[in-house]
This record gives sequence, structure tokens and C-alpha cells, in this order.
Amino acid sequence: MDDRELLRQVPVFADLSDPDIEALSRLCTRRRYPKDTVVFFENEEGDFFFMIVEGRIKVTILGDDGREIILSVLGPGDFFGEMALLDNEPRSATAIAAEETELLCLHRNDLQTVLTDNKAILTSFIKVLTSRLRKANHQISTLALLDVYGRVARVIMEMAKEEGRRLKDGRIAFRRATHQEIANRIGTTRETVTRMLKEIERQGLIEIDGKEIVVQPDFEKAF
Ligand code: CMP
Repeated sequence: MDDRELLRQVPVFADLSDPDIEALSRLCTRRRYPKDTVVFFENEEGDFFFMIVEGRIKVTILGDDGREIILSVLGPGDFFGEMALLDNEPRSATAIAAEETELLCLHRNDLQTVLTDNKAILTSFIKVLTSRLRKANHQISTLALLDVYGRVARVIMEMAKEEGRRLKDGRIAFRRATHQEIANRIGTTRETVTRMLKEIERQGLIEIDGKEIVVQPDFEKAF
């Protein structure tokens, strides 16, 4: 696929005219990152904006005790690295390839030009950032208000919504994240996640099936 077609798959740029996509694609470069490679570290200076073509990027912060907190896991069509370019502050988090990942990269000056020249793009950019803020608020309330059982249940629901596919019988199947990854999303330990998942499975609300977790249709109502 050429860069123009790839850019069309990034929702914020989908509405650009053909000549604008063509012009933008000439400014982008492609980079591949093997699994577990760092794209950039928190607190670094940054000059590039990234769009995910293929793969997944984990956005993380390292706690003082060395624990990793996952803020978000982004996939194809998502973008990241905009914050340091918009407010001229260092990177707010570390970005790591959670699997082999291909990115399109755009220099800060070029991003600035696209956003200044296209009001529709600016508007959809703001919409994405707003929905990230909503999600972050939701995450804060999860961490502050729910016990660890509720947090595990909620993260399972979120993953099912984000990346699940509905089966014919109404259940939702999605990639089984590692227990460490789930733990890092909700500030607990791997052992606790394993215990909680077993408990949720024992109640018949989920099935853990090799590389997938399958959620019952009435899972959300149970909490
Ligand atoms: P930047 O600060 O340049 O580098 C880290 C990037 O992670 C940031 O830009 C955003 O693109 C992304 N990011 C930071 N916080 C979140 C969050 N809560 N949800 C999703 N993405 C985030």
C-alpha cells in the first residue's frame, strides 16, 4: 500500500482532498519498530508526530518504584506524539511497540501547517483529544472508586469494547492481554489479576480460551 492509501486510513486525515493527501504523503516517512522497541521516552524533547499503520503502541509512564503504568494502547489508524509538539513541552509518556509496528512520521512544522490550513482536520483532531480526556477521566474514576475486582472487570469490558469481535451467539472475543499488561493498566499486581480473572471465570462471566478472552453478552450488567 502506498503512503496516500495509508494516510486515508488515519481517521483524522480521511477527509483531506486527494491533492492534500498527496502533498502530506510526500512529507511523511515510514519507520518499522520491532516488538518492545521504544519509539521515544517520557521527558525527551520531541519533533515528530506518529500515525500507526500496523501494530500496537503502548503509552506508558514509569512510577518512582519502577512500576509501569499503561495509559493507553493504540492501534492502526491512531496517532500519538502530538502533545509535545502542541505545547512545546517534553514527551508526556513513553511510547513502546507492543508488537512489530509500522509508523508514519511527520515533522512538527508539517503537522502545524496541516492543522493551520485545514479547519476540518483541526476539529477532528480536537475530537480525538477530547475523547482521550474522557477516557482518562473514566480511568481516574476506575482507580479511585472501584476495588480491585471491579477494576479488573472494568478493564475487561474496556478491552472487549476497544478490540472485541462479536461472535454469532452474542459473546465478544478479544485478544488475551498478558496479566502483567492488565495489572499495569489498573495499578495492581500480576498475581492479583490472575486471581480476579479466575474468580470472574468461575462465575461464568468470561471464558479464557488460549489466546482469547470471551465475554458473555450480559457481562456488563453483572457489575
Ligand atoms: P507526547 O506527550 O508528545 O508523547 C507521549 C504521547 O502519548 C502523547 O504525546 C500522546 O500522544 C500520548 N498520550 C499521552 N497520554 C495519553 C493518554 N492518556 N491516552 C492516550 N494517549 C496518550
